[in-house]
Amino acid sequence: MCGIVGYIGEKQTVPILMEGLEKLEYRGYDSAGVAIYSQEDLVVKKFKGRLSVLADYLEENPLPGVLGIGHTRWATHGEPNDINAHPHTSYHGKIAVVHNGIVENYMKLKNWLKGKGIEFKSETDTEVIAQLIEYYYEGNLVEALQKAIQKMEGAYAIGVICKDQPDTLIGYRKDNPLVVGIGKGENFIASDIPALLKHTRDVYFLEDGEMAVLTRDHITILNDLGEEMNRDPFHVTWDIESAEKGGYQHFMLKEINEQPKAVRDTLFPRVDKENRIKLDELRLTGEELNQFNKIIIIACGTAMHAGLVGKYAIEKFARIPVEVEIASEFRYKDPFVDKKTLLIAVSQSGETADTLAALREAKGKGAHVLTVTNVVGSRISREAHDVFYTWAGPEIAVASTKAYITQIIALNLIGLYLAELKGTMTRAEVADKVAELKNLPDKIQAILDHQENIQAIANKQFNQQSVFFIGRGIDDYTSKEGSLKLKEISYIHSEAIAAGELKHGTIALLEKGTLVIALATQDQLYDKMLSNMKEVKARGAFVVAITKEKSREEVEESADVVLSIPDTDNVFTPVLAVVPLQLFAYYTAVARGADIDKPKNLAKSVTVE
Ligand code: G6P
Repeated sequence: MCGIVGYIGEKQTVPILMEGLEKLEYRGYDSAGVAIYSQEDLVVKKFKGRLSVLADYLEENPLPGVLGIGHTRWATHGEPNDINAHPHTSYHGKIAVVHNGIVENYMKLKNWLKGKGIEFKSETDTEVIAQLIEYYYEGNLVEALQKAIQKMEGAYAIGVICKDQPDTLIGYRKDNPLVVGIGKGENFIASDIPALLKHTRDVYFLEDGEMAVLTRDHITILNDLGEEMNRDPFHVTWDIESAEKGGYQHFMLKEINEQPKAVRDTLFPRVDKENRIKLDELRLTGEELNQFNKIIIIACGTAMHAGLVGKYAIEKFARIPVEVEIASEFRYKDPFVDKKTLLIAVSQSGETADTLAALREAKGKGAHVLTVTNVVGSRISREAHDVFYTWAGPEIAVASTKAYITQIIALNLIGLYLAELKGTMTRAEVADKVAELKNLPDKIQAILDHQENIQAIANKQFNQQSVFFIGRGIDDYTSKEGSLKLKEISYIHSEAIAAGELKHGTIALLEKGTLVIALATQDQLYDKMLSNMKEVKARGAFVVAITKEKSREEVEESADVVLSIPDTDNVFTPVLAVVPLQLFAYYTAVARGADIDKPKNLAKSVTVE
């Protein structure tokens, strides 16, 4: 995820772009840049770091011009540094591009262009777009862009300007957002409405595959066949603050609703049409991977819960023993680690002090370290041997949601990849699993489409003193995450107990009306869970059950309320079952008036021990 702004008009462009980028900083903040058409040239200024670094520079070194594009970056390809920051320019400096998204086949295109003698400066997929456009440019920017797009695969939104065309700004979108702002004597493009609201409230929303060609006084929208489209403008009535959150009340709710996209972005670039997994980021050879006799996953908090789900999947698929260790415990226990250990450090931020220290401990003992992280260039990503980036985009709310789901996807992909290498699954079996992984975004969406059911339960149950989550097998891990989410943001005491363990102590705490959330998504453990539900109901508990759609009717007899999730492979149910739990925590916290995005005593990134 990144933020794009573009301007064409009569006013000075730099202040307009900078104000717009400030409103988009929630979309990325590891580097920023602008390209301005200034004195018959394209001048690019871009720096690593927060937007303020660029702002300070431009204040001291004014850059005049009335056409330009700007960008605030959340790195995906290439670490955050000045060279990888956007805008990117083509070989002869004719074209400048800002980009949000991923060009999946960029390596192939890069090699193809290199073969034609074109040199590259950065490690990004974006530079390929600029180079491709210049390669096809013969005086008509629209045609050049149309040709370039035909070569590109992936999901992206882009803004383009050309040195030879001081009267033109172009925007294009495919599966990533881009809006066109309609002004008087000036026009705009942006990733999101907040960047425009100071200047206009009238916008066009581009559809996938559409291009907007802007001059000062005119906007033309072309479809993928190059035909001109008529579009009614949309008048924005929201205030700036709610627009930043995409109309959602809180970042947490926005991020929960972004999960289908986060899964798609993390998964699709790594699987092909034949459902083959390509993990280009793993530099280990098959032989080296085959040598590991155990895997240790280290992490903290929500990432540790993703690790537990990952353990289940990797053991099942690849038949390698996997231990999951809380990073703050692992580092002090003189762990059994050697050259045959693959250590996987899972961390959204890539900065968590305990996870970093545990990683160093294991590395010192000879383990090979792979990290699953969401932040390119983070400390953990720099110290690991191999990095698997989750492409969830920046997560702003302290309570982790979309990062968690993408961590599970990452660990499943690693498990399936190892399984095929080790021969514990056939190519066809792996392909079947990948096919089902691809269905998950739509299945998550189906749950999100009915969130009012979960809100209704939260509105009745928000006064509980204690909430208990029960489950068996992989459901126990999802319960742990559901319980953590609830306590983090609603401040209600909650515990997750393996359902079979309930009778050994915790059942003593149940009273009439105590809320028990029971997960029963595992076919092989389903009867056992029905018994556990009856057990707690007999003690007066109010039971909310989460089960697969196919079991809904049967579970209704043992629970007070049943929430169903779409049917899926048993191993993948955590990706779906956590969604109602996230929503329950969220709506409970709303009903209690809690500070949802910044819960008390908690921090997004814990960089102290
Ligand atoms: C903090 C956050 C949690 C997160 C944990 C680990 O406690 O509040 O949401 O799960 O750190 O963070 P990491 O960035 O390493 O995943």
